[in-house]
Amino acid sequence: MCGIVGYIGKKAAYPILIKGLHRLEYRGYDSAGIALIDSVGNLNVYKTKGKVQDLETFVESKNITGTIGIAHTRWATHGEPNNANAHPHCSESETLALIHNGIIENYAALKESLIKQGYHFSSSTDTEVLIQFIEHIKKTENLCLAQAVQLALNQVVGAYAIAVIEKGNPDTIVAARKGSPLVVGIGEGEYFLASDATPIVEYTNKVVYIDEEEIVIINRDKELKIKTITNVEKTPTIKELELTLSQLEKGGYPHFMLKEIFEQPESLATSMKGRVNVDANNISLAGFIDNKEKFVKASRIIITACGTSWHAAQIGKYAIEEFARIPVEVEYSSEFRYRKPVVHKNDVVIAISQSGETADTLAAIDLAKSQGAFIFGICNVVGSSIPRNTHSGCYTHVGPEIGVASTKAFTAQVTVLLMLALSIAKARKTIADEDYLKIIAELGQIPKKIETILQENNCIADLAKVFTYAQNFIYLGRGYNFPIALEGALKLKEISYIHAEGYPAAEMKHGPIALINAEMPVVIIAPNTGMYEKVVSNIQEIKARKGRVISVITKGDHVVKDLSDYSIEIPETLDCLSPLLASIPLQLLAYHIAVVKGCDVDQPRNLAKSVTVE
Ligand code: AGP
Repeated sequence: MCGIVGYIGKKAAYPILIKGLHRLEYRGYDSAGIALIDSVGNLNVYKTKGKVQDLETFVESKNITGTIGIAHTRWATHGEPNNANAHPHCSESETLALIHNGIIENYAALKESLIKQGYHFSSSTDTEVLIQFIEHIKKTENLCLAQAVQLALNQVVGAYAIAVIEKGNPDTIVAARKGSPLVVGIGEGEYFLASDATPIVEYTNKVVYIDEEEIVIINRDKELKIKTITNVEKTPTIKELELTLSQLEKGGYPHFMLKEIFEQPESLATSMKGRVNVDANNISLAGFIDNKEKFVKASRIIITACGTSWHAAQIGKYAIEEFARIPVEVEYSSEFRYRKPVVHKNDVVIAISQSGETADTLAAIDLAKSQGAFIFGICNVVGSSIPRNTHSGCYTHVGPEIGVASTKAFTAQVTVLLMLALSIAKARKTIADEDYLKIIAELGQIPKKIETILQENNCIADLAKVFTYAQNFIYLGRGYNFPIALEGALKLKEISYIHAEGYPAAEMKHGPIALINAEMPVVIIAPNTGMYEKVVSNIQEIKARKGRVISVITKGDHVVKDLSDYSIEIPETLDCLSPLLASIPLQLLAYHIAVVKGCDVDQPRNLAKSVTVE
């Protein structure tokens, strides 16, 4: 989604802003722009369709001086990606420049009224309407910039993170948020502004997260001033960043996605650190311990999430129902928020999100909260909106995930859900001690087992070359590995643009089997756990129709190996933990197919890393 960067201080703003935009590229975008105020107060705005690199080329011979500026990467919502629709947008008098993430829902009515009053529009964006509206209020009410922004935001319906600067006023940036994230970095005599901390971390580790419906007035050489849009003054809470710069670099890998796949032994070990105690034979999840009774007494658990996080939720459902014996419903946040669901006070709602900023999941949380449920968040980005809007929760702690296709965050979400399922089960006494201990011991082995799968990387790269011809793929799995079939298919779709669908293996007979012929690659997750024999029968059905089978099998399984065209081996493990191993070869397969096809693996077309609009 769109990215915001801002700077005010003593240094040249341009290099900081451009570097910031590069750091935000991972979020996904289709145009970029920048606005700077030079030393004599001129406002210079440059923007272009395409990449940040295109913007850099475009400004080569332009005036890019100034120690204050704002910059933006746009992911199109209203209006196609082109130069006119790129941000910043200027007001009629060209004295104000605005960047915006989010959607102004009542833009059409505002635009109509502004046109009647003589305003002209050069783009088809809702953002241009907002800056014209701010200027209109500023002029008609004779207000300063911050007051005009405040008054305008009181009349705006929708979601936004915005930053505004004004010609002739090189000392102030006014920014605000509602529904889209915004963070201010505090340096020595300088301030940074961004959608997330990635553009800020190399300059300072002191940050202030702007809250919902807050306006921040960033004045050169003055303390930060924060107030709500209803004019209540707030004291900024300064937090220290955990993020490090090296986490944002590729570290020798050709793509962030590959780096993140290879990080999984370490990231899962970190996620379990201090939580899975193999020596003391227990699991200790702080967010759970503090709210144990809520889980123990829950009559139902609802898990809400989108995309890959929804796939992790499905595995969570299987584990919680198997071990803790509480009914679990898994909901797409986008459906849950609008379909008038029944939520009871003794329901526990778990919201899962890597970014912690997904608009639909945030709305689902608000809805469940308004109906009295206890909300538990499972998120990766520390300090993001979801952890700040839930009653309690648990971070996945895998560090920044930059590749748009989620990999290490997914396996960590599954790990946290398994730890949670076991914790609830133990507290409810629904799991035999022997099983509890066996799973804990095996969880401790998972990072090492993933390492052995990663050694197959070159073989999987060779296998990928065989299948780049394919237009379609089918992924099949059963039990705990049905969600892995869905996730494997999503990974392939996202980054290679090959159509792929995941199904529970037995569902194949109910329709998808019609698609199988000698051209159709079918990926089957068939570890020797769970419903192994039944999966073997499914493979035979596919081979009988000449489908090309790529199986993920337990090391040493010659039965499925002999039936398959290609096999990838994973180490032996318990049924409930098999998704953690089976997902690795599927991530690598999708990655290598996309690389051979020459796709932009880290920033696939049309996709955004955090979907902050619905
Ligand atoms: C994952 O590869 C996708 N990019 C996407 O499905 C993602 O999981 C989804 O948008 C949810 O994001 P979140 O986890 O940040 O809420």
